[in-house]
Amino acid sequence: MGACHFQGLLLLFLVGAPTLIMAQKLFCQKGTFMGIQEDATNMFNWTSEKVEACDNGTLCQETILLIKTAGTKTAILATKSCSLDGTPAITFIQHTAAPSLAAISYSNYCEDPFCNNREGLYDIWNIQETEEETKGTTSLHCPTCLALGSCLNAPSVACPNNTDRCYQGKLQVSEGNVNSLLEIKGCTSIIGCKLMSGVFKIGPLWVKETCPSMSISTRKIDNGATWLHTSVWKLKLLLMLLLLILGGSASGP
Ligand SMILES: *[C@@H]1O[C@H](CO)[C@@H](O)[C@H](O)[C@H]1NC(C)=O
Ligand SMILES: *[C@@H]1O[C@H](CO)[C@@H](O)[C@H](O)[C@H]1NC(C)=O
Ligand SMILES: *[C@@H]1O[C@H](CO)[C@@H](O)[C@H](O)[C@H]1NC(C)=O
Repeated sequence: MGACHFQGLLLLFLVGAPTLIMAQKLFCQKGTFMGIQEDATNMFNWTSEKVEACDNGTLCQETILLIKTAGTKTAILATKSCSLDGTPAITFIQHTAAPSLAAISYSNYCEDPFCNNREGLYDIWNIQETEEETKGTTSLHCPTCLALGSCLNAPSVACPNNTDRCYQGKLQVSEGNVNSLLEIKGCTSIIGCKLMSGVFKIGPLWVKETCPSMSISTRKIDNGATWLHTSVWKLKLLLMLLLLILGGSASGP
């Protein structure tokens, strides 16, 4: 009997220990940035002066999406905050590689206080504009622009070697109730509406890519695109069903 009681106590202690650790507050940098910047590699300072105290069991995160096309500045969508979900990891994705149109994302989830403290972008974003220019251009010209919201104008630009088509698309990027829209036009070698290369969840950011003018021909040419369109469509259906179920139970007695 005595031994049994002792084991019970030990078990309680083991269960209690993680709770004590989790009860400590974690502090993270907090901030959101959306903008178009010249020379983002050297000029962008991602440090946020704001601090967020996290709830139990959370991580810090810092996530950035960078997009550029030849001759334009860099579009930056960045966020730092506490995160309730995710596992400690760094994810770097090159969605579209230069020449011309380029898109990368970087996401860091970590568990130490203020560990989401990246300042500069020099090691993740060093697209060499000059290198593109010296490689020569093709006879192809594409309307080129990058803007938050919609492009006011899109001048026709000679495309660099190794590109063979024009891209035109919009990205809707959302995090919680923060929404931003980005319009992108430029030369590329990617086929179809695939600036994001099918990766639409970047850290806490959700990205929706639409290319109205090419959607029909894209589906015919590219099986991958069809699959993506279908899976997104299925996801939407699932989400609608879920909302219906949740809505139904919420409005019940
Ligand atoms: C964190 O956990 C502790 C212990 O479980 C609890 O007392 C406290 O209210 C929690 N705090 C928050 C912000 O959830
Ligand atoms: C970025 O800003 C922070 C605070 O504003 C500053 O301490 C830091 O030195 C800056 N970093 C660079 C590389 O300018
Ligand atoms: C770029 O492409 C053009 C036309 O195809 C070619 O004449 C030129 O040599 C290329 N330039 C370089 C640096 O490869």
